[in-house]
Amino acid sequence: MSASSLPEKFRKNELPDRQEQIRATYGPQAEEWEAISPLPSLDELADIMVEGAIGSVPVPLGIAAGFLIDGEQMDIPMATEEPSVIAAATFAAKILRRGGGLFTWSDEAVMSSQLFLEGVSPEGESRLLQEQERIGALVDRALPGMKARGGGYRAMELSRLPESGILVVGLKIDVRDAMGANALNSASETVRAELERLSGGEALMCILSNAARDRRAGARFILPVSKLSALGPKGMSGAEVARRIVLAYRIAAEDEQRAITHNKGIMNGISAVVLATMNDTRAVEAGAHAWAARSGRYRPLSRYALQGGSGDPSQEPALVGEIELPLAVGSLGGAVGFHPASSLSLRVLGSPGARGLSQIMAAVGLAQNFAAVLALVTGGIQRGHMKLHAARLAYQAGARGKEVRRVADALAKEGRYSRGQAAALLEQLRGE
Ligand code: MEV
Repeated sequence: MSASSLPEKFRKNELPDRQEQIRATYGPQAEEWEAISPLPSLDELADIMVEGAIGSVPVPLGIAAGFLIDGEQMDIPMATEEPSVIAAATFAAKILRRGGGLFTWSDEAVMSSQLFLEGVSPEGESRLLQEQERIGALVDRALPGMKARGGGYRAMELSRLPESGILVVGLKIDVRDAMGANALNSASETVRAELERLSGGEALMCILSNAARDRRAGARFILPVSKLSALGPKGMSGAEVARRIVLAYRIAAEDEQRAITHNKGIMNGISAVVLATMNDTRAVEAGAHAWAARSGRYRPLSRYALQGGSGDPSQEPALVGEIELPLAVGSLGGAVGFHPASSLSLRVLGSPGARGLSQIMAAVGLAQNFAAVLALVTGGIQRGHMKLHAARLAYQAGARGKEVRRVADALAKEGRYSRGQAAALLEQLRGE
């Protein structure tokens, strides 16, 4: 527990006063302070974006270059604190390009809002069904911008919760390029009173569902197994690497504990793009994991299989990788496009619409997963991870500038990763 705490009215103070209070209460070190408060203009943005702002957490933003998605060359901005994520995505992009890259698809951007009505009789429920069209028109009237862009009301679905008897009114709305939370929530609040009047019930609450099951995106690649040769230990064929990747997937499909880690690797890639574009990471994560568990058992979000190779000698066997998951992200609205880091990321991605952005994310998720599983079944991930960890050890031991890389390389060569060893190597380097 912290030794001191801030006054209750902290959040009501002006930003400079809040920063002063943080300084006085928690005494941040100079480098800690610089890390959260790099630019006065960013402070101002943070202040607009969240209550009680004192600065920003500058998560590293990098680019995974060289993706080939739907025939287009792409660079992917990724925000992540994990050292190996961008390196692995870049590596996967390079390998997958050899097979023509990744191909993607997405659903229309349809999201559901839920209104929970208490005390609705069967007659009240029928009245809602009879008035569906008028309810749809009311929704559309609440969202004129969305309607003008070709979105708006799509359908109404009613269901009864078996234990509480609550009637759930699901309003399906096409939110076009928005993530949609605000649009959905205001639309359902607008029709709330009318739904109460028609049904004779009382609305307890209304909110969008982050399940986003109608708003899925997917990606696929086909990689001839020869393109996998030389990626495993010496002497391991591409066919054997592919067989191992497929077996690793089957294990994830059989074993929930492994499926969770398998999917964590996928989200390493997806969440990094979600964050770089300042979309809602928690919404995407919640939807993804719920989708993974939709059968009642938690399963991998991606799958791998071998294709061809039996019978037709002219056809080389290929590894096929696929992914599908809900991806409720926007290309405008909220922090997306508002924060300069987000607008830069979107520009690097070629300013896609929401569906295009979700397709890129699906492709990155699959590539990230491919890189992780490939490393796991061909010698483990720790070698690559430790190389990146070495740079941090070098920095912590006092190395700066070019020294960081040189000490890290020396640590990796020796295979001894400790801060003490990094300090010794740094001293040796400086003595030379
Ligand atoms: C590490 O962040 C992600 C992995 O654990 C994913 C996986 O095991 O598939 C390497």
